[in-house]
Amino acid sequence: MLHLPLSIIQSWSRFYRGNFVNCLSGFKSVSLIGTINKEGDTNLSVFSNIIHLGADPALIGFINRPREAAPHTLANIESMGWFTINHIHQEIIEQAHQTSAKYDEGESEFAAVGLTPEWQAEIPVPYVKESLVKYALQLVEIIPITHNNTFFVIGTLKEAWIDDSILEEDGFLSIERAGSVTSLGVDGYYDTKRLARYAYAKPNSAPREIP
Ligand SMILES: Cc1cc2nc3c(=O)[nH]c(=O)nc-3n(C[C@H](O)[C@H](O)[C@H](O)COP(=O)(O)O)c2cc1C
Repeated sequence: MLHLPLSIIQSWSRFYRGNFVNCLSGFKSVSLIGTINKEGDTNLSVFSNIIHLGADPALIGFINRPREAAPHTLANIESMGWFTINHIHQEIIEQAHQTSAKYDEGESEFAAVGLTPEWQAEIPVPYVKESLVKYALQLVEIIPITHNNTFFVIGTLKEAWIDDSILEEDGFLSIERAGSVTSLGVDGYYDTKRLARYAYAKPNSAPREIP
């Protein structure tokens, strides 16, 4: 195996080191986050640092880079208090990736990349119509991480829209059937295949596979 002490990692160029470190934490739940500003301009950006925080209350959060690097989603959530998270499937990978470009504040990524805003009753922010798994969150808390000027944005789940084919009898979502992709680093996208599901693990009892 290759041993890479920190001194070696620090000697690499910013780009090379960024790729390497971004891949270390593994495959991620990449999605499009939809927001709106006070003027009613929509915004859509791809995010992959999305984290499940708890099911009751249902809380989901994501890491936003420093404000200078990724300003619009963060500012819109601060001012409007809502966001949607929309899964990406194979047919919309290119458009999804393109939303990471630095568009001006007034220019909607929906129009720029060719995705369709979709509105649902009582949800003041846009979903992505093409997405097959999507949900809306209301802002609960934004925690600044002072060590590197990033932000942990936490929302509480308000509703979800899911493809008919993926909801299992026990509430599990087989999102691979909707073609939801996963990402690696900041530019790799992958499809997925389930290997196994197991019942709740208990000490001294063998793992039991769920068919
Ligand atoms: C695959 C991928 C994953 C990304 N994940 C994140 C992320 O988790 N957090 C983040 O702040 N930016 C992330 N970005 C970068 C944002 O998409 C990019 O900075 C975008 O321009 C932010 O737009 P905004 O200012 O409209 O919010 C990611 C980019 C790509 C291509």
